[in-house]
Amino acid sequence: MASQRRRQTQHQQPRFLIPVVSVIFAALLFLLALLSFLAPPPMSDNRLRRPAWLNDDIEVKRNVITDEVFRVPIVGRSTGHDLWGSKLSKFFYGCSNASNKFAQAEVITQPNRYLMIATSGGLNQQRTGITDAVVAARILNATLIVPKLDSNSFWKDASNFTEIFDVDWFISFLSKDIKIIKQLPIKGGKIVAPYTMRVPRKCTERCYQTRVLPVLLKKHAVQLTKFDYRLANKLRTDLQKLRCRVNYHALKFTDPILEMGKKLVQRMRMKNRHFIALHLRFEPDMLAFSGCYYGGGEKEKKELGAIRKRWKTLHTSNPDKERRHGKCPLTPEEVGLMLRALGFGSDVHLYVASGEVYGGEETLAPLKALFPNFHSKETIASKEELAPFSAFSSRMAALDFIVCDESDVFVTNNNGNMARMLAGRRRYFGHKRTIRPNAKKLYSLFMNRTDMTWEAFASKVHTFQRGFMGEPKEIRPGRGEFHENPSTCICEYPEAKVLDSGSQGVVFLKGKRNDTGEEIGESTDHFLDEEPDWPDLDYVENHNGLGEKGMTYKNDTDYDMFLKFEEPELEEMLSD
Ligand SMILES: *[C@@H]1O[C@H](CO)[C@@H](O)[C@H](O)[C@H]1NC(C)=O
Ligand SMILES: *[C@@H]1O[C@H](CO)[C@@H](O)[C@H](O)[C@H]1NC(C)=O
Ligand SMILES: *[C@@H]1O[C@H](CO)[C@@H](O)[C@H](O)[C@H]1NC(C)=O
Ligand SMILES: *[C@@H]1O[C@H](CO)[C@@H](O)[C@H](O)[C@H]1NC(C)=O
Ligand SMILES: *[C@@H]1O[C@H](CO)[C@@H](O)[C@H](O)[C@H]1NC(C)=O
Ligand SMILES: *[C@@H]1O[C@H](CO)[C@@H](O)[C@H](O)[C@H]1NC(C)=O
Repeated sequence: MASQRRRQTQHQQPRFLIPVVSVIFAALLFLLALLSFLAPPPMSDNRLRRPAWLNDDIEVKRNVITDEVFRVPIVGRSTGHDLWGSKLSKFFYGCSNASNKFAQAEVITQPNRYLMIATSGGLNQQRTGITDAVVAARILNATLIVPKLDSNSFWKDASNFTEIFDVDWFISFLSKDIKIIKQLPIKGGKIVAPYTMRVPRKCTERCYQTRVLPVLLKKHAVQLTKFDYRLANKLRTDLQKLRCRVNYHALKFTDPILEMGKKLVQRMRMKNRHFIALHLRFEPDMLAFSGCYYGGGEKEKKELGAIRKRWKTLHTSNPDKERRHGKCPLTPEEVGLMLRALGFGSDVHLYVASGEVYGGEETLAPLKALFPNFHSKETIASKEELAPFSAFSSRMAALDFIVCDESDVFVTNNNGNMARMLAGRRRYFGHKRTIRPNAKKLYSLFMNRTDMTWEAFASKVHTFQRGFMGEPKEIRPGRGEFHENPSTCICEYPEAKVLDSGSQGVVFLKGKRNDTGEEIGESTDHFLDEEPDWPDLDYVENHNGLGEKGMTYKNDTDYDMFLKFEEPELEEMLSD
């Protein structure tokens, strides 16, 4: 329906509508001014989109499209008992200590076995690589060289490991697990040259033993390239726990990053007791990649189509299908409506971490109207404060990572690397409220929303979001990607078991884990096997729009993160 199009502008509408629309604009602008003095600056009328839902709470206005009442309330749910956190979280804790059967590094490390890795992708994709590299080295009984970060990817950040992570902490924290050194040793006056190879995605313990070990024994130093998601999701418990020790304890940002991140968090906390952090992915490239249509008409089709042409590996898109399958990121407006439906009022402070937003202010306007207390690191910190970070995409990403991690509620509109990484991390550190849109279900709801009242809409959002709220045990152990669902590293206190059987408050806890850690019964399981594998384009530093000049797509292989898996047969082998 044309009226649902998102990028609708006035000049595209029939002329007779103009006076009516102008009156509504005037009313809306007045209302916005009342709502908050922090409301976005007024835009020229013919650029401002008219969200059909924006009615005030006192005077019921008709939805101009269908005459149905879709009245978005300004206030949230006052009885939001578990809005800001899970009541069940206190029964769980992160547990990643090694058992006493896990041999110390000096016992297992073999001389003359050196493993190097070169990571790939954005900060969070690289983080999975670093984490998995430690485990890979442990499997091989090798010494690990401090990982080399990817400086040629899309993100063009030349920062090395020491500039992002506290390298000495990394080495010492893991000293019992694995030997890590900063450089390959010098033999006979020169550095040992490593043999370069690549392992398949999701390589198992056995896969490392058969593919890498023989080479390592022969060459003594091996460098694994494009090292991201190169380790299986399922591993022995002691190796999974090691993964968690690396990811959640050993990998610490450098002090300057941590300090600035802390400052940003404090500033958000000064504004209000609670805050929501939203990781918004709505960059032109990601939208093009997703193959979805966002209602921008011919202009959007042309612009996104031009980007798509650059990726030879992308097949032609079927936007409707993509959306039905939940593969399209929610628009800013949809995120706002979802949050309001879940009970967050317009007084809530929102920290938004995003790269370039396709359509800019126009796209953001409906979200800002719903949540006028709209912040980002650029609004709560000065240019000078951000100067040491702003030229480096990974450092900027790290700042957002910290604020999102510390937020009371973390929301995403996507299922990219940062969203998944933080979802797992927040589970480990006490199941902090993490809301991930059930895009598949919400899609049809958003499509139909002009046919229903706000109350009906909100009630459906509640239903659809069950199992997507960051509650304990929402996802069955072993399902999904380990970094997102680190179930091996989440333990429960005995009281939780009592709760399992019978408490009415336990909405999400259908599954019950027995002493061996096996799940019995059914748990809310939303995991799609066909997860969208979006690239981590979080911080594209190119501000000239669609990258006609700025981005050069040298090789398709540079972007193999866009491809799900290079070896389909491997996926099958590992899906047991
Ligand atoms: C893990 O080990 C640390 C340090 O030895 C200790 O402080 C902590 O209590 C342990 N945690 C658990 C859950 O056993
Ligand atoms: C690593 O060392 C352990 C303990 O000595 C041994 O059981 C295992 O087979 C070794 N693995 C490799 C790949 O060398
Ligand atoms: C990392 O970069 C910094 C600054 O460019 C440099 O001083 C340092 O030597 C580099 N470290 C490594 C291990 O390359
Ligand atoms: C939306 O409308 C279609 C067609 O009327 C219907 O099949 C579908 O179930 C509706 N979806 C929701 C979430 O109400
Ligand atoms: C727990 O799971 C294990 C493995 O599936 C099973 O052998 C055991 O009987 C279960 N224990 C209980 C109490 O159900
Ligand atoms: C692009 O691919 C070719 C081989 O197909 C390779 O020789 C070349 O080094 C690659 N360039 C980059 C920048 O990766």
